[in-house]
Amino acid sequence: MADEKKNIMDEIAEANKSVVTGIDEKDILHWIHISILGKKYRVPAGLTIMQAMEFAGYRFIRSCGCRAGFCGACTTVYRIEGDYRLKTALACQTRAEDGMYLVQIPFTPAQRANYDIEQLSPSIESLLRIYPEILKCLGCNTCTKACPQEIDVMEYIACGKRGDIEKMAEISFDCIQCGLCAIRCPAELAQYNYAQFARRLHGKYQLSIPEHLQKRIEEIRQGKFESELKRLMSAPVEELRKIYTSRVIEKE
Ligand code: SF4
Ligand code: SF4
Ligand code: FES
Repeated sequence: MADEKKNIMDEIAEANKSVVTGIDEKDILHWIHISILGKKYRVPAGLTIMQAMEFAGYRFIRSCGCRAGFCGACTTVYRIEGDYRLKTALACQTRAEDGMYLVQIPFTPAQRANYDIEQLSPSIESLLRIYPEILKCLGCNTCTKACPQEIDVMEYIACGKRGDIEKMAEISFDCIQCGLCAIRCPAELAQYNYAQFARRLHGKYQLSIPEHLQKRIEEIRQGKFESELKRLMSAPVEELRKIYTSRVIEKE
């Protein structure tokens, strides 16, 4: 069984070499050594952590989505040899370094509440009703240091504690729900779920619906786009691609 696994991993590694680097192994001049889940590998310098792992033979079926820093799936915890600090990163956005000890965190089992937003308001009362544990924040700033998006996580939690839903929504706007703040929090909070809650409240109760959006919703309700939608649903992929790339993008 062990042999069978090794062979499959070797095959994947072999297949990935040309895909990841685009050049022959003999032509690669600079190599680094990294450790993945406790096993050492030699990989070409200059790859992202994700590419380096693929070069080493790992095939991502979890912990990988957009490969572009948006989906938050490729969360990684690492330490560099000789440094006591545990660091966090997105594997698709961070370059692999010599001496990295890496582990992927495919999923953070953080609590997310169910609620009926119609029964709530953008207030401290609503926030504390749904997520009372937010008051347990110790103000240690570990979450901010862990955030690959460089969001001031501790600050948006502080905004929540004083009921400033608008500011909480604003500060957390670039959150990609990766969960790295939550896995490091000594108070065991799920910061990003509270921030998502704040953004939902803010969007529903504090922002006004732009006039053109209201008009478009009305047109959809009246069935103005029904026949066009039906046509798109049955169009071949090539035609869809053409329509997508030549679409007119709305100006801000
Ligand atoms: S890591 Fe947790 S306890 Fe520390 S500041 Fe962030 S939310 Fe508060
Ligand atoms: S706030 Fe938390 S979940 Fe959001 S991007 Fe930063 S670390 Fe990830
Ligand atoms: S794969 Fe989506 S953020 Fe890295």
